Amino acid sequence: MIPTVLPTYNRAPLSFVSGEGSWLVEQDGRRFLDFGAGIAVNALGHANPDLVQALTDQAGKLWHVSNLYQIAPQQRLADMLVDATFADTVFFTNSGTESCELAVKMARKYRHDRGEDRPVILTFEGSFHGRSSAGIAAAASEKMTKGFGPILPGFRSLPWGDHDALTAAAAQPDVGAILIEPVQGEGGIRPVPDHCLKGLRDLCDEHGLLLILDEVQCGVGRTGKLFAHEWAGISPDIMMVAKGIGGGFPLGAVLATEAAAQAMTAGTHGSTYGGNPLACAVGCKVMEIIADDAFLAEVIRKAGQLRQGLEGLVASHPDIFEEVRGAGLMLGLKCKAANTDVVQAGYGQELLTVPAADNVVRLLPPLNLSDADMKEALTRLDAAASALEADE
Ligand SMILES: Cc1ncc(COP(=O)(O)O)c(C=O)c1O
Repeated sequence: MIPTVLPTYNRAPLSFVSGEGSWLVEQDGRRFLDFGAGIAVNALGHANPDLVQALTDQAGKLWHVSNLYQIAPQQRLADMLVDATFADTVFFTNSGTESCELAVKMARKYRHDRGEDRPVILTFEGSFHGRSSAGIAAAASEKMTKGFGPILPGFRSLPWGDHDALTAAAAQPDVGAILIEPVQGEGGIRPVPDHCLKGLRDLCDEHGLLLILDEVQCGVGRTGKLFAHEWAGISPDIMMVAKGIGGGFPLGAVLATEAAAQAMTAGTHGSTYGGNPLACAVGCKVMEIIADDAFLAEVIRKAGQLRQGLEGLVASHPDIFEEVRGAGLMLGLKCKAANTDVVQAGYGQELLTVPAADNVVRLLPPLNLSDADMKEALTRLDAAASALEADE
């Protein structure tokens, strides 16, 4: 008989009942160190007192009001995002997938209103943009699209790192935009080098293409800048955000320049819950904490230490690990052992990590983790690797 919850997930037999900071408590009382953070969602850890306060203050006043009316926390969060980024305007969603939907619609409408027939968006092999019809069409992997045809047209997927293919594709007359994650998450923590992001921006400018960045996983302080593209000194035309911006409360956003967004007039898009007062009250607090130079400097410092520690683990367990890659606190351990075995061995040490493609184990701790918790995670990973070696 089919389970009462549709069985689309391969779930570990772990059920957490509470959390605090970088720790989660299993129903049997075991305490797990959480280096997955809900896949880069709990950016400020579990039960963060500032976020709990922001949420409960708002909950006592107003839970929901339709976008038929003005919503003060939504306006405040939009102003904060515009102040802190390249963007002139923001639309709020409830997830990364919804942000993808709007980014695609915005790029299409931009062309339509200019009377141009350039609907195609270039995407990249290994990318992940969500599970909606547009999201799976954009990522174009067989794993996600098989059986779900007809697939939404208008996407052309390019090989990763193939400059010649990209240059040729960008010059095609039906191409209107490029969509890319500055650091691929699900694809195996693959950062786009800064000079390549700069090159992409130049290519977009040369051909009049919109540059759409998917910062759903790598944004909101994860790499040590508020948004990852800042490292390359470029800015996109449209950016997808979600995950960390809500710190665990469902919240997403699409940020855009005025030029890219101007076709999105009243009635062209909407959402019942997008920009909900509860979500935006939490989002404002997340921004207050993370969009702060001192906070981001700490992320960079801790990221350097974690990376160094992981390099040490690669050196001491050459049969288990191959290399460390990533940016900031979005790090990947490319494995020689099966990454799923490494994640499983982590569970044995009460440490949570997340597998990704390309046989990588992702480390995505809360951005405000303590030095002591970082050391503890390295100790537990070391023990997990030793346990795997002993099994071989
Ligand atoms: C880069 C990227 N884009 C989009 C998404 C989809 O976000 P959501 O699961 O919130 O719909 C994800 C989720 O993992 C992601 O990592």
